[in-house]
Amino acid sequence: MKVPAISILISEAEIRERVTQLATEIAASMPADFLIVALLRGSFVFAADLIRALHRVGASPQVDFLTVSSYGKGTESTGTLTVHRDISEDVSGRAILLIDDILESGFTLFHAREELRRRGAKDIHIAVLLEKPGKRKIEINADYVGFTIPDKFVVGYGLDQANYYRELPFIGVVEG
Ligand code: IMP
Ligand code: MG
Repeated sequence: MKVPAISILISEAEIRERVTQLATEIAASMPADFLIVALLRGSFVFAADLIRALHRVGASPQVDFLTVSSYGKGTESTGTLTVHRDISEDVSGRAILLIDDILESGFTLFHAREELRRRGAKDIHIAVLLEKPGKRKIEINADYVGFTIPDKFVVGYGLDQANYYRELPFIGVVEG
């Protein structure tokens, strides 16, 4: 078993409180009927908590999942998007809440949004749990941001390093 030395950057309690706030913001600004498109794998924990927080504030979205990558084997993002597993829903004319774990270079969300637009999605809002502001390589902003974090590689709450650490209930930084 791996025994990680991980320092906590954002605690479980802080995440829980912020997700509730985000749900309130989202419910107030999205139309009554909207479709969540959660980017896998990184956003599955955030999406799972967010949809239940949305329920508590009276929203009832549909939910679908899109598996894409714009991320190479190392820790540098690339500008290419590959669709590994597509959504099932027709997005034409729909209001969409596109969810990802983190907005870094912006390529992933930029290309995912372009693809949904190309398919006729009408109104696309973006929600991310985390944002690293200094790292953007393409012009894109999220409508809802959980936390702005320093330029460190973080794991937990769905985010991985080589597909490990997704199960951590907090956001942490791997030490060595
Ligand atoms: P972007 O395309 O550069 O904005 O990167 C977004 C994707 O890169 C996210 O969906 C994450 O999967 C991954 N990513 C970026 N930064 C981190 C990090 O600090 N930890 C884990 N994954 C990251
Ligand atoms: Mg990801």
